[in-house]
Amino acid sequence: TEILRKDYQQPSFFIREVTLTVRIFDGRTEVASRMLLEKNTGGSLPLDGEDLKLKKVLLCGKELKEGEGYTLEKEKLIISADALEAGDSTDLWLETEVEIEPEKNTQLSGLYFSGSMYCTQMEAEGFRRFTYYLDRPDVMAKFTSVRLEADESKCPILLSNGNRIDSGKLEEGRHFAVWSDPFAKPSYLFAVVAGDLASIQDKFITKSGREVHLEIFAAKEDKDQLWHAMRSLQNSMKWDEERFGLEYDLDIYNIVAVKDFNMGAMENKSLNVFNTSLTLAREDTATDDDYERIEGVIGHEYFHNWTGNRVTCRDWFQLTLKEGLTVYRDQEFSADMGSRARKRIEDVRILRAAQFPEDNGPMSHPIRPEKYAAIDNFYTATVYNKGAEVIRMYETLLGRDGFRKGMDLYFERHDGNAVTCDDFRSAMQDANGRDLSQFERWYLQAGTPTVTATDAWDAETGTYSLTLKQTVPDTPGQMDKLPMQIPVRVGLLDRESGKELMRDTVLELCEESKTFELKLDETPSGRPVPSLLRGFSAPVKLEYDYSDEDLSLLAGFDTDSFNRWESMQRLGSKAVLDAFKTEDIDSFQPDATFMDAMKRIVQDKVTDDLSLIAYALILPTESTLMQQAKPPIDPTRLHEARNRVRKVIATELEDDMRKRYDELTPKDDEKYVIDGPSSSQRRLRNVLLAYLCTSGDAKAAELCGKHFKTAKGMTDKLAAFSCLCNIPDSQEAKEAIEQFLADANGDANVIDKWFASQARADVDDLLPRVKKLMEHPEFSLKNPNRLRSVVSVFISSPQFHLPDGSGYDFALEMIPKVDALNPQVAARMANGAFRTWRLLDEKRQKMILDRLADLSKAGLSKDAAEIVSKMQA
Ligand code: ARG
Ligand code: ZN
Repeated sequence: TEILRKDYQQPSFFIREVTLTVRIFDGRTEVASRMLLEKNTGGSLPLDGEDLKLKKVLLCGKELKEGEGYTLEKEKLIISADALEAGDSTDLWLETEVEIEPEKNTQLSGLYFSGSMYCTQMEAEGFRRFTYYLDRPDVMAKFTSVRLEADESKCPILLSNGNRIDSGKLEEGRHFAVWSDPFAKPSYLFAVVAGDLASIQDKFITKSGREVHLEIFAAKEDKDQLWHAMRSLQNSMKWDEERFGLEYDLDIYNIVAVKDFNMGAMENKSLNVFNTSLTLAREDTATDDDYERIEGVIGHEYFHNWTGNRVTCRDWFQLTLKEGLTVYRDQEFSADMGSRARKRIEDVRILRAAQFPEDNGPMSHPIRPEKYAAIDNFYTATVYNKGAEVIRMYETLLGRDGFRKGMDLYFERHDGNAVTCDDFRSAMQDANGRDLSQFERWYLQAGTPTVTATDAWDAETGTYSLTLKQTVPDTPGQMDKLPMQIPVRVGLLDRESGKELMRDTVLELCEESKTFELKLDETPSGRPVPSLLRGFSAPVKLEYDYSDEDLSLLAGFDTDSFNRWESMQRLGSKAVLDAFKTEDIDSFQPDATFMDAMKRIVQDKVTDDLSLIAYALILPTESTLMQQAKPPIDPTRLHEARNRVRKVIATELEDDMRKRYDELTPKDDEKYVIDGPSSSQRRLRNVLLAYLCTSGDAKAAELCGKHFKTAKGMTDKLAAFSCLCNIPDSQEAKEAIEQFLADANGDANVIDKWFASQARADVDDLLPRVKKLMEHPEFSLKNPNRLRSVVSVFISSPQFHLPDGSGYDFALEMIPKVDALNPQVAARMANGAFRTWRLLDEKRQKMILDRLADLSKAGLSKDAAEIVSKMQA
């Protein structure tokens, strides 16, 4: 059963106030709730509930019986209209008592048990697995009293949202704490944590002088890995004040790191819950990328306090209202903390590798979907990352100040309310006196638009004209789309000197096609070279018939750092796709222009941000290339083609690469520092290492082995380890595989890296190796991080598509198994496995369709079934 956006209806009642009592016992938890109702449209009151054992229902103090006052349906407790009419309309208190079993909750939605703690994940619809409630975001209540009771020795720490207003001892070694949150909130932002945890503490003084107590909790053994998260939180709080004038609004901010978690993290009001993989960091356990990801996600959840919590979503179709906006905000935060140029490249890499395939596959949906069966399936790269690009386009169209005015008006109008994407767009529009009605199409139409550019140069008059044409592709259930409003940032370069002839200009393409006459700031030597879609100013595919020489010029001289990188990506794609089309891949040679450009980059001593050099050397990912090649695609061959190009680069540029690698190698006594420049230095050195190891010969193994042994931190160690996993029969690899696990010393995040590197190795017999890994005592199907580090990693490797279909059989076997434990994780796995099937060759398509047909008969959960049925449509 699908829910449609157009069917939105207000709730029959609101819940204005809630008090809860949660009694945790071994194996069972009692939840008693008292809710103050307020009649809205009236009628009966259908409360959501799932896997609850109902004990009691009282209305205005009077017990109701089944059939007399309420009925129980599957996943609903319906209080009858008669009973509600008979109640005291100004003091309509509804009480329920239920029992749940958090220890048996393997779905990790609602209240569950994870090693050292009980914790909750309520978004999107987990609260109904905790108690009967109107579990929808437009019902905002004050949780005035949340009383937690548990055994004091097992659960010394008892946390919920807001402030702790009482605590004390109870009989039989039990104790209690009472929490109160002054802000009204929807149920998805509620949280409880109870366990035996360690913590670190610090504070933040807001710009208006409020002192906020900051505390981060984790299992005791992880306590020394929390300080990076703390610094990231303080930086986030400061940044939001400076950039958006937004201040924190409570006296406490708690974060808890939990080992079993379906997603990354959760923005519960004043009690964020985080996956340990996005919290814990020490130089010997976390890579530079991990450090940055943690900073970004800590920021993300903190920024939700305004964009998500203070102003929340009316219904789940509006998810991008908070997620797209908050991703945009965390991207901006990271850009300001590190390198803006690098961050933009990283974000576009993610968009292309994760969102473009989604937009072009069976799950394609607009950033504001029109229908869903399981909302958890729509926490997607489209809603999050394309959603962030849509927000970024407002900024591009309105300017940074105009965007800020729109944000200010949005908060002025909607603080404390549950609103829609249209409300956001109206605020942007009204604050800037602009008509943004066409812009709504970004919320309505799925699919990645293509913008095709052609140009004309009149040397006589010195006029350069650029024609932009857009097409928006058909996607499942959506045809014949209307033109979008697309900001295209452009510049022009001189063909001879590479000098900029026209600075950044934003062209607005609102029609199917439009020609722009561009004014040059300087006289060119000839027909200018256009730099198009600078900074990736819109989430589109930009086509223009660039010659290799044009691209090489842009790669060297464009003032836009994004397009310098982009030009190398275009050259790289061309090389791989040429190899892909060649009969004999093993003798393929890329064009000289490309090879020269690569050489120039390896030798580049002018660019001071070494990450930009590193990224310029990395070929587009296979997932990105899949979107560029012409179907039907043999993914095994595509992988060979990419490897071939890598190999030629590595062979021809070996001396230059080795020289640069040695220059970047830290001296023996050099300290390992975690900051932007040092991590960029490591990034470049490790990219070079990977090239230098492509041969897989004894020399490569020796170099990797040495890199591994001399590594001072996880970044270098993991880089070497990953390379060694590609040459698993070498002595160096065998030693490293033992050493890495021994050094992990039980640290789960490090062990995940150990599994993941082996599960993504570029070896022919990957599947048997993966199956062997799953027999390892450290492997578990129940812990999402561990499961992902083996199964999901394999599923996204090229080996998954082995022509004999053994990879597909493996997915067919794993998905129902995982689904029985954890539907959300299984659904993601199914999506990751099969979403590109239409792009594949006929043989593989048929094999996958057979597996999908089997899966659709496997009695899957609502989550997994929705994905499987979409895949087949
Ligand atoms: N709101 C969280 C975040 O973006 C994600 C929670 C997703 N949870 C889920 N079960 N779908 O930070
Ligand atoms: Zn979020």
